[in-house]
Amino acid sequence: MHSQNEWGQLRKVVVGHAHNARVPEIDTSLRHINYADVEDELTIPSGTYPQIVIDEANEDLETFVDFLEKESVEVVRPNITDCNYYNYCPRDSVIVYKDKAIATPMPLRARRNEYQAYEHHLENLHPYDIIRSDALYNTKCLGDKDTLALTEEEPAFDAANVLRANDDLLYLVSNSGNKSGASLLQSIVDGKVRVVEGIYSYMHLDSTVAFLRDGLMLLNPSRIKDVSQLPEPFCHWDYIMAPEPVNIGYHEPYKNSSPWVSMNLLSINEKLVVLEKHQEPLRKALEKQGIECAMLPMRHAITLGGCFHCVTVDLIRD
Ligand code: NVA
Repeated sequence: MHSQNEWGQLRKVVVGHAHNARVPEIDTSLRHINYADVEDELTIPSGTYPQIVIDEANEDLETFVDFLEKESVEVVRPNITDCNYYNYCPRDSVIVYKDKAIATPMPLRARRNEYQAYEHHLENLHPYDIIRSDALYNTKCLGDKDTLALTEEEPAFDAANVLRANDDLLYLVSNSGNKSGASLLQSIVDGKVRVVEGIYSYMHLDSTVAFLRDGLMLLNPSRIKDVSQLPEPFCHWDYIMAPEPVNIGYHEPYKNSSPWVSMNLLSINEKLVVLEKHQEPLRKALEKQGIECAMLPMRHAITLGGCFHCVTVDLIRD
């Protein structure tokens, strides 16, 4: 197991599945992190996703797995278990950096053990659990999108708040990652953790920035107005501003991401990425940079909150 950036040749990867995916019963963590903008808690759905969503998501994941295998990438899957949330987005729960697998202290209580469904595929695993006391959640965020959901009570972050670029890791401070989480990560890895804040308050970094190769990234222009908002060395990188996403819609009332999940691409290597099949404007922009795009279906990317980057964790990448 070894991977330290987002673009080297991919050799082995975990691909999630949608079996038993559910929205957990509302608790303080879910209310503050996922639904701070919802006025009436009673409108929040809970329980398993509709079977049609689960079946179609699994069908699209199988198509993706076939594609990866044809590209000579070895694919492993999480166990199918009863779960409190889902095993659709393994990217959220584990970062592989060099030869370490870090199961991050996820702030949602329902997700604390999610990595266990695929830990048998991980080496040199560092699991970090936390208490998740009520003091970790900032009640002032309810109805106020400028206040983040997490306090600094204890380190908490999802793995998908981080992108890797060899010696540098970009860490987003948001509802799904606090500053103490960045310090914890810095104590584990020998790369430099570079913190970015104030660009996006919600879950995860990978619909805001995508690293395409050393020195080139894709940016979300609705969140990053100027590259100088990024820390060193990324503020000196070349970048492509992503075109407006093609909105693929969602299965009412389950909306787990914005249409910008269009940017949530997976690099097979620095010349080939996998994109959701309707994202033609983005394909054109990437092809201008010499990056070929495999266009594959992921019908429930918005419903379930993840496209090809989220539904994977790379285990081996050159
Ligand atoms: N929360 C992000 C998606 C993360 C893959 C968004 O809604 O854009």
